[in-house]
Amino acid sequence: MKFYQLTPDERRKLLVDQGHLTPADAALLAQTPMLAPDVAAHLIENQIGQFALPLGVVQDLVVNGQAVQVPLVTEEPSVVAAANNGARIAALNGGVTATAPLHRVIGEVVFDAPVDLDRAAATLRAHEPEIRVVAAAAHPSIVRRGGGLADIAVERLGDFLKLSLSIDPQAAMGANIVNTICEAVAHAAAAWLGQAPLVAILTNGGGAATVATVKLKSATLATKDQPGPAIAARIARLSALAQVDEDRAVTHNKGIMNGISAAVLATGNDGRAVAAGVHAFAATSGRYQPLATWRLAANGDLCGRIALPLQVGVVGGATGALPVAQAAMRLGGYRDVAALQTTLAALGLVQNLAALRALAGPGIQAGHMRLQANALAIAAGATGPEIAAVAAGLGAGQMSLARAQALLAAQRKDDES
Ligand code: MEV
Repeated sequence: MKFYQLTPDERRKLLVDQGHLTPADAALLAQTPMLAPDVAAHLIENQIGQFALPLGVVQDLVVNGQAVQVPLVTEEPSVVAAANNGARIAALNGGVTATAPLHRVIGEVVFDAPVDLDRAAATLRAHEPEIRVVAAAAHPSIVRRGGGLADIAVERLGDFLKLSLSIDPQAAMGANIVNTICEAVAHAAAAWLGQAPLVAILTNGGGAATVATVKLKSATLATKDQPGPAIAARIARLSALAQVDEDRAVTHNKGIMNGISAAVLATGNDGRAVAAGVHAFAATSGRYQPLATWRLAANGDLCGRIALPLQVGVVGGATGALPVAQAAMRLGGYRDVAALQTTLAALGLVQNLAALRALAGPGIQAGHMRLQANALAIAAGATGPEIAAVAAGLGAGQMSLARAQALLAAQRKDDES
């Protein structure tokens, strides 16, 4: 039986047998509700409940020669299926190669219209040694771990004066570390300039990109109805379209983020920070661009490349507080920030591959609606074995809630008689 045909219990058992999941994590994932009431109550303000979403897994996404089991949390039925499909094709071709940049997060301390901007800029530059001392004193533990303030830059932006602090947050995503350092430096700089700053906060932009590439033999892209070279050629044209059509680029990138957002959420990282940084990066040229591109090599191979900044960490925040996020970290084998970033970039690339292959071939609706049938059956009120029965009934015709409700009513009538 294929993995997707097993029950959740059987899937967990197999992952344990394969050494990907610890028995304790398997027991944790089987547990409901997932969050202890005191954890839920202390994680956010005004907590009144829990919001459950399914956690799935992409099997054997090959990244830099390693098969990674990627946990995903998503409400969209087709996301895990598409990612697995893309990962399978990439694996047939030796997998994805990816490199992560130096992990840096930038903080900004901005002064509003100092009377003499040039003098204020020179004052900040002259205080670089003091800025380093203040930054180290604000967060001694990050310095002890080998991180902290790396570089500073001072620039004029209109009548604003901006001090940028490039900070190495080590294994953390860095928001709290950077904001703490920014506020301490802002306080000291206010005394040097005789003026309080307008703002002191990290930026979710400006990060360097993680890059992933893959080279596919066109034969491995064949669909039921179309030969591989035809699909490869259409994927390359879809990529070219996304470069000139911003409407298409947005949806192209949405498909990439289907996987990345789900994998980021599974780890308890801040998905809004990642999304803000990614979309700002896509628009850096002044025109919103696709994050992943595909071209045909002279020998007919399809070459894919993705580049995107990924502001994530492997310690701290909700990652440390949520037991399931911890289990997801272990399942993904994310031992450092680079391992998580390279996996996320590779995932985005294969997710895009699966979407473009479907668009180049049969279109996405056939696969989507098949997977959507379960969600419709549940929305109609089906429970237990009714879900599969109603979904199977839906598969034979039009997908609508009304039909799902009618099928469910008929099913229940049958069961009664
Ligand atoms: C659907 O969630 C994502 C796609 O629309 C992405 C794309 O069009 O590239 C299939």
